[in-house]
Amino acid sequence: MRIAMIGTGYVGLVSGACFADFGHDVTCVDKDAGKIDAINRGVMPIWEPGLEALVKANADRGRLAFTTDIKDGVKDAEAVFIAVGTPARRGDGHADLSFVFAAVRELAKALQGPAVIVTKSTVPVGTGDEIARILAEEGAPEGTSVASNPEFLREGAAIADFKHPDRIVVGTDDDHAREVLREIYRPLFLNKAPILFTGRRTAELTKYAANAFLAVKISFINEIADLCEAVGADVQEVARGIGLDNRIGPKFLHPGPGYGGSCFPKDTLALLQTANEAGVPQRIVNTVVKVNDDRKASMAGRVTSALGGSVKGKRIGVLGLAFKPNTDDMRDAASIPLIQSLTEDGADVIAFDPAAMDNAKGMIDGLACANDAYAVANGADALVIVTEWDEFRALDLDKLAATMRGKALIDLRNVYDPEEAEKAGLDYRGIGRGR
Ligand code: UGA
Repeated sequence: MRIAMIGTGYVGLVSGACFADFGHDVTCVDKDAGKIDAINRGVMPIWEPGLEALVKANADRGRLAFTTDIKDGVKDAEAVFIAVGTPARRGDGHADLSFVFAAVRELAKALQGPAVIVTKSTVPVGTGDEIARILAEEGAPEGTSVASNPEFLREGAAIADFKHPDRIVVGTDDDHAREVLREIYRPLFLNKAPILFTGRRTAELTKYAANAFLAVKISFINEIADLCEAVGADVQEVARGIGLDNRIGPKFLHPGPGYGGSCFPKDTLALLQTANEAGVPQRIVNTVVKVNDDRKASMAGRVTSALGGSVKGKRIGVLGLAFKPNTDDMRDAASIPLIQSLTEDGADVIAFDPAAMDNAKGMIDGLACANDAYAVANGADALVIVTEWDEFRALDLDKLAATMRGKALIDLRNVYDPEEAEKAGLDYRGIGRGR
């Protein structure tokens, strides 16, 4: 199959490289010449395990190319995926579709024959209809069709998720589009990935419903964690106890400092907007958004209380800045309000993250960083684990405790065993562990 991918962000670059790895012939198109140049030199715009090698291997074999020229990129393409950004719009929180529509207008003029236009970007219900309208208006070739194929990959595990999805969702009423997408994903059927064919609006909504449901799960366990603290129960065991029920499932029941990233915060807001416009407000998701915002804002308070009520003049070490491990992505990361609030209250914060420090410095004014976890702990009154990177999971707690000035270990990801931490002389505070 000859595939074009418009947009080389997270979804576009990973999807393009994986499709090429399945043996398809893929050209990725992006307006940003600097980015295309860098990728062609082997420099990835994002930090994602395995991506650089995958791009290189497929580019070397001639199956994966990058260009800024859309006309060239979509030439002879049987399918054109749109994977440009859909950030939250300022003001109302709805998805900003200007990049999608601009890409579609250009695409309509660039196409020399009919193609299946597939939205991979997360787009609100009805966007496919609007795309079809624009294509017709701009005189796209007869026979061009529009499908929705939302992507469910997670950052940090993007390639594995793409290659081993739980399901593939394709929304279209067009028979030819269905066959083209079935052919594109055929290599995945060997992994027994089910492909669901639905209407276009259904596929678009499925993506939002999935992310919103996961956000509900996280916020639910976060509130249960707070209750555990109040009544002396252990949320880790509660999560295991409920997660073993097949109807609930064990995943996304890890309590923490509140969800962040480029998807859950933006997609929940966009879903609320769609629901309000449709006159069917989503009260559960609305509450989850508030619960999560409050949760992030409350994390600094945990540090303050561990330090006896004030952080003024205290040195606080932060381990992990990215919104989750294995990424350098800082969008809506819980570390941002935490560090800002501690700093405002007069603390001296020092942080370390294996990948996100450069991005974090652009988002948190005056952020001071150290070279590793032990340097962060040196002389600190409190140490806060914000992101559960693997390299923070087996730190030498005796060594940490010996170099710290104070003894507070605030583990916002429940990485450590409270007893072990206390054995090392640390004053351990996890999330929802009754202590
Ligand atoms: C999420 C979804 O998991 C993907 O399926 C989806 O494709 C993607 O959004 C998207 O829409 O593009 P992602 O944002 O990369 O993926 O990361 P997640 O692993 O879902 O984590 C999101 C946030 O939730 C992180 O801040 C993480 O720390 C938090 N989280 C996750 C918890 O606090 N507890 C959990 O149990 C799980």
